[in-house]
Amino acid sequence: MKLNQLLYLPLWYFKIRFLKKQIPLQTVIFITNECNYNCKHCCVDKTKPHSMTYDEIKEHLINSYNLGSRFVDFEGGEGGRGKYRGKYGGGKYKKGSHVSPDDTKGEYKTINDLCALAKSIGFYSTTVTTNASYDFSYFNADHVFISLDGIKAHDIIRGEGAFEKIKENIAKFPHPERVSANMVINRINQDEVADVLKFVEQSPYINGISFNFYNPVNGDTQLCVNDREKIINTIIGYKKRGYKVLNTEKGLKYLIKPDFKKVCWITNFITLDGKQHSGCPDKTPCSTCGLGMAGEMRALYDLSPQTIIAGLKLRMN
Ligand SMILES: C[S@@+](CC[C@H](N)C(=O)[O-])C[C@H]1O[C@@H](n2cnc3c(N)ncnc32)[C@H](O)[C@@H]1O
Ligand code: SF4
Repeated sequence: MKLNQLLYLPLWYFKIRFLKKQIPLQTVIFITNECNYNCKHCCVDKTKPHSMTYDEIKEHLINSYNLGSRFVDFEGGEGGRGKYRGKYGGGKYKKGSHVSPDDTKGEYKTINDLCALAKSIGFYSTTVTTNASYDFSYFNADHVFISLDGIKAHDIIRGEGAFEKIKENIAKFPHPERVSANMVINRINQDEVADVLKFVEQSPYINGISFNFYNPVNGDTQLCVNDREKIINTIIGYKKRGYKVLNTEKGLKYLIKPDFKKVCWITNFITLDGKQHSGCPDKTPCSTCGLGMAGEMRALYDLSPQTIIAGLKLRMN
């Protein structure tokens, strides 16, 4: 991060804390629901597969930047597989849009074009999350999260051969310091948390791991774990022993009983239908939230030093 970018952060904090303004710092944008997997825990509605157009994404990024956001996470579906049409490729072009008609020339744009676009708008860093089922070594995102939902359980949740594919594809990525894993803990994989931590620790291709808990989809709680506190204490125990857990202890503790006062407006979400949400668009009650970032945002708001350091470390690679 550059010096002017670093200086933006205390200024942002001053505005949100002392001037009580709800300014987002991060944007999560769902650019496609197309995906080659059908994971058991997936919250993405894939009934009508489609992607946003490049023009729509550009407008959302500019709006988000103008709101104050400086970090963007491209989410899917499989963002790396999507093709994002420009104006002349059939995408919608709204009158009065910020998009210049020359911008898109009609070709399909890729995830790398989107990351480059975000940087050109002024975002400090870009993140893409992938199932790593294909060679993603061409990704130019500043950070790539690969979903790793267990060792044996990974295939049960994601389909046969999925774990082998991850091993094959992470080895091809040229910048291991820019790759982290993300595990969504649910009833199927809850006993494999320690094994996953050990796998990440010995892997030269993964820089760390973040944890989330399953967020019930359409109210279905069957995959919810029965003892969150025990699992969180296990993760904290490994973290204290030096394992590369990206969640902070404070953020993890918030997840034990997620009825704390949320500050999820720190992230603005843009869903595939083009709607902008200040905070989480999920219909799940906040009291059952499993998303690690909810705890981390709260810890950031509390000005927890460990959270600030972890956030900067992730973004300074
Ligand atoms: C929606 S996926 C999109 C990226 C990519 N397809 C993947 O699986 O990594 C992004 C992350 O959300 C997680 N996720 C999906 N459904 C979830 C749920 N119900 N609760 C919590 N996390 C979920 C996935 O495991 C993945 O790590
Ligand atoms: S790979 Fe990602 S988007 Fe696709 S089904 Fe699995 S969790 Fe959902």
